[in-house]
Amino acid sequence: MSAQIAPQEFAARLVSVADATEKMLDALLQPHGLPGEKTRPERLLEAMRYGSLGGGKRLRPFLLVETARLFGVEGPGVLRAASALEMIHCYSLVHDDLPAMDNDDLRRGRPTVHKAFDEASAILAGDGLLTYAFDIVADAPTHPDAAVRADLTVMLARAAGLGGMVGGQALDLEAEASKEPHTRGFVALMQSMKTGALLLFAVEAGARMGGADAAQKAALSRYGAALGAAFQVADDILDAEGDEQALGKRAGKDADRNKATLVAALGIEEARKVRDALAQEAIKALEDGGFGGSGAILAEAARFTVARKS
Ligand code: IPE
Ligand code: IPE
Ligand code: MG
Ligand code: MG
Ligand code: MG
Repeated sequence: MSAQIAPQEFAARLVSVADATEKMLDALLQPHGLPGEKTRPERLLEAMRYGSLGGGKRLRPFLLVETARLFGVEGPGVLRAASALEMIHCYSLVHDDLPAMDNDDLRRGRPTVHKAFDEASAILAGDGLLTYAFDIVADAPTHPDAAVRADLTVMLARAAGLGGMVGGQALDLEAEASKEPHTRGFVALMQSMKTGALLLFAVEAGARMGGADAAQKAALSRYGAALGAAFQVADDILDAEGDEQALGKRAGKDADRNKATLVAALGIEEARKVRDALAQEAIKALEDGGFGGSGAILAEAARFTVARKS
């Protein structure tokens, strides 16, 4: 029997981490620059703020914060790392929505950045968020030990880049243009990169900052990989189910665009089964890791990932 917490307690924690992340992002994205910066152009800063503040579930910051908290580690350094990760996620959304990629006009219930500003601003806002994220993780206030900061920096680069999120986005677009049927294996690989990598980083960064031992780290990585996979399958199912109001983004577009999804490869019923099995696998990894009652909040995050409507 896995450890349980009340869903209301989970919801309250999610709101609390989201609020703390919002405050940290707001503080980081101010007009006054850091040493070495010359000036922060007003319109670019405004587009970066628009693309990152005031919306989103903040699930990645939550996972990072809660994983570190398993080991009793919390505070502003952890929130900085969590906010850097959220900046990368927000940049990925801003670019994902561009006309050259998914061409979407609605995100988090508002016009996408290229609609509210213009395409060049959206490209640069994404670039700015990406670069700033690395400044934040590498800078001293994030962790007193430079070796930990260096590890986080490399881990984030690997998760976000060529063999991670960016690579997955490239595979997603290649598959969209392909006439071949999308196989389950390809979809799983592509999704583990475009979406799984940043979610896995959230958990692994929390474990690094918390000082997890090798066995704990292995269990948490298994949890993060399964949760990341479940998350994108759930996203694909939500797109197919089509409640734009709840989602705050357009729905039904994956089928129109020939996107490689498990819904397309297996059908929605089978995709639901895979999603639920992945969440169970995530919960099992926590049990096997021996986190006991303190793992309950992460177990609930796995249940939330599959039950969410937005
Ligand atoms: C949307 O991510 C993009 C995917 C990776 C599927 P989220 O569903 O976490 O989006 P926000 O941050 O809550 O808006
Ligand atoms: C996006 O996947 C993954 C990213 C790296 C942003 P989707 O293209 O399915 O995300 P949504 O549905 O637009 O949020
Ligand atoms: Mg996309
Ligand atoms: Mg998209
Ligand atoms: Mg989607």
